[in-house]
Amino acid sequence: MPIVSSADDEKRLAAEAAAELVESGMTVGLGTGSTVAHLLPAIARRGLERIRCVATSVATEEQARELGIPVEDFDSLTRLDIAIDGTDEVTPDGWLIKGGGGAHLREKVVAAAAERFIVIGDSSKPVDALRGPVPLELFGFGAASTLERLGADVELRDAPRSPDGGVIADYRGPGLDDPASLAARLEADPGVAAHGLFPPDMVSAVFVARGDAVDRTSFS
Ligand code: 5RP
Repeated sequence: MPIVSSADDEKRLAAEAAAELVESGMTVGLGTGSTVAHLLPAIARRGLERIRCVATSVATEEQARELGIPVEDFDSLTRLDIAIDGTDEVTPDGWLIKGGGGAHLREKVVAAAAERFIVIGDSSKPVDALRGPVPLELFGFGAASTLERLGADVELRDAPRSPDGGVIADYRGPGLDDPASLAARLEADPGVAAHGLFPPDMVSAVFVARGDAVDRTSFS
């Protein structure tokens, strides 16, 4: 019998609750990570018809296809009815840090296209205040020069390049007490393709499982 950690059980519970929001005919954005790995079978079990999905990583795309969930390139769909994804941190006012898996660029593009962005996680994900680090994706072009400009607060991550050719790094500097300003500062560098700070106005609801219950908090 496999040993299942309680965190993994919580991830599954939150994922199953979010899967209930997906209905036949919807366009769906699928996130990345170990929580989303529970979401995909939960969606597949629902036997929905005519859903059209986009995936935020190759791993998600492969798992979805194996489960019979149709995935298409994100080039013809312009809007998604719903996107569901995990998070590394979520504050009480709805700020997220994402990108532990290095997929935050695609995750943000998909979240921004979604009518509703639902965040799922276990009880370790809520934090009183953001802790970091903040994942970055740097454009591959000129990445060494971008890293030099960003300085000692940014560390290259030992990770493969993203599917978009980006270089994954982590910001460990100050400013997390004012995430909007930090986000603006990171966005101001032309070499930064994406950062892992997701603002509350992007988030529709957060589903956090604690033990065998799922807390649902709505934001926008
Ligand atoms: C990947 C992400 C993930 O959603 C985040 O890291 C949470 O992962 P997990 O569900 O494995 O805890 O942002 O880039």
